[in-house]
Amino acid sequence: MAAGHLYVTRDLGPEPMELLRNSGWKLVVHPDRDLPPARAALLDGVRGAAGIITLLTEAMDAELFDCAGPKLQVVSAVSVGTDNIDIEAASRRGITVTNTPDVLTDATADLAMGLLLALNRRIVEADAFLRRGEAWSWGPRLFLGRDLAEEVLGIVGYGRIGEALAKRARAFGMRVVAAGSGSAQNGGVERMPLDQLLATADVLSLHAPLTEQTRHLLGAQQIASMKPDAVIINTARGPLIDENALVEALKAKRIRGAGLDVFEHEPKIHPDLLELDNVVVTPHIGSAGEQTRTRMALLAVKNALAVLNGQDPAHPVNGHQKHCFA
Ligand code: GLV
Repeated sequence: MAAGHLYVTRDLGPEPMELLRNSGWKLVVHPDRDLPPARAALLDGVRGAAGIITLLTEAMDAELFDCAGPKLQVVSAVSVGTDNIDIEAASRRGITVTNTPDVLTDATADLAMGLLLALNRRIVEADAFLRRGEAWSWGPRLFLGRDLAEEVLGIVGYGRIGEALAKRARAFGMRVVAAGSGSAQNGGVERMPLDQLLATADVLSLHAPLTEQTRHLLGAQQIASMKPDAVIINTARGPLIDENALVEALKAKRIRGAGLDVFEHEPKIHPDLLELDNVVVTPHIGSAGEQTRTRMALLAVKNALAVLNGQDPAHPVNGHQKHCFA
């Protein structure tokens, strides 16, 4: 039986692609640099593959694994989140799943801090105001925002990215509290239950993975229990928030604002979010630093090649290191 090929769902940039080309594995690369393969093209491309390197936009599920067939040994995600991958279905077939933690921690925390600053100091609103060309002069009440050093940041999901954001926020003088599980050390951050955190935070930032337990972690009831001038930041995964409930709360000014890098039905965005002045949106660019993206892609390539070459990958998600279809 031939060894199978390595299917890559997007061009990963010069350095990672060179590593792949020198690996000795036959490569099949989805030709569009920016858009994901359509489902039919994806299923076709993975047929007979020994490995897949995927971005978070592709659903890696039982149907796809069956389409790939028994040679498939590894699905290597170019992301830390693996909610697009059916880990159980992969494990049942002996397929190793890997991801790229650590290398994107700082970049994602930077963006969360950027959204926090943009909202608290109304940077995007003020920029739009000037671009409209309206007459203005310096005024004591012009675009009054919030002083960071007076605010409490509540972090939900205190792992690596939550901890990196805490470090940044503390440098701005914020008090930081955290709820939920996570690997991070306390680092001077007060831990408290989620309901207490919701009532305490002036800025709430989500850093939990998306699982069945965390889906709609913030729904109408949780949002209603927040301070009326609180803001919500989400650079994790859209479905952590019930987007309809968020829109209702924002429109009714039951909370002050939201900074969203991710959306419940990505790439679709609730149209009302785009109409609201108290919302800042970015297109899922948390890890979009040039160097970070190269590091992520290199790590994903190395994870995939390690499994294909019979070695332990640096970042297994499901602990399956051997292909069980002999
Ligand atoms: C980005 O969202 C990632 O999970 O890496």
